[in-house]
Amino acid sequence: MHAKHRCCPYCRSAFPRPVNMNMNMKNMKKTRPFVITVDGPAAAGKGTLSRTLATKLGYEHLDSGKLYRSVARHAADEWHLALNAADIDPADIDPAEIDSTKNDANIDANIDARIDLAAIVQAVRTRLPLTRSYLASLETDRRLYEDKVALLASRLAPHGALRAVLREQQRSYIASVATGIVLDGRDMGTVVSADAPCKIFLTASLAARARRRTQELLDDRPKQSYNVLLNDVLEAMRVRDERDASRLQAPMKAAEDAMVIDSSKLSVSQVLEQALRHVEACRARFVS
Ligand code: DC
Repeated sequence: MHAKHRCCPYCRSAFPRPVNMNMNMKNMKKTRPFVITVDGPAAAGKGTLSRTLATKLGYEHLDSGKLYRSVARHAADEWHLALNAADIDPADIDPAEIDSTKNDANIDANIDARIDLAAIVQAVRTRLPLTRSYLASLETDRRLYEDKVALLASRLAPHGALRAVLREQQRSYIASVATGIVLDGRDMGTVVSADAPCKIFLTASLAARARRRTQELLDDRPKQSYNVLLNDVLEAMRVRDERDASRLQAPMKAAEDAMVIDSSKLSVSQVLEQALRHVEACRARFVS
């Protein structure tokens, strides 16, 4: 056997030395992860789609809504922000009451007076960089799934300083990913990862989304009247959509290069099929 065909002095393999083994590892450039963004309004099916895509492709998944929701919970917990207690002194509020409040309508009028946004931003900044275990803990925190937390998150989300620190967290997390990641949110394809090679905007009519959310809620509260709940859900969703889409900072909208999928009349598997076709086309064009 000729020496030039050996891999290295310690190895007796007859195969030629792989090209990369000659490279200094420190000089190796990290390849760009493949980023798929899935933006759109509440209850359009973004969560199901982005999680399924991530599992199928072996990619990571980042649900940015959970970050905004966790800030909202944090604000409510730390500052005893009573979601519907307009005339109550925060010092008098029993924290247990915060969870049992029913009326979301007063959040807007009172929130700015009650929260210390600079302190919230500082608290969020101390979580840099985002860790996988922190993100996993958000997935299992049932409180983050409450609609009143979503509304409060939407109310805090227009604040530029808060968005800036969350954007920094998200970008550093994306950069740490090895192969690929699916990002779920409102401004993933327009701001957080505006250069992503693959973008989807998943939407559905307000009525279709409200019906889906109502059905989910009814599964937990079977005795509640469908029509009463549907009206409440529809109104809360309308308010949240309007706020998320009309804010000055990173409003919810489809990126110009996003594929728009309207899921109003599609099944989950039809949405997935369209999305996968788009992802395959994006992957064929992608240069890392
Ligand atoms: O996706 P979600 O329903 O969990 O989001 C809750 C709120 O958080 C949403 O109404 C607005 C805000 N949000 C945002 O402003 N930007 C994101 N990328 C994700 C969520």
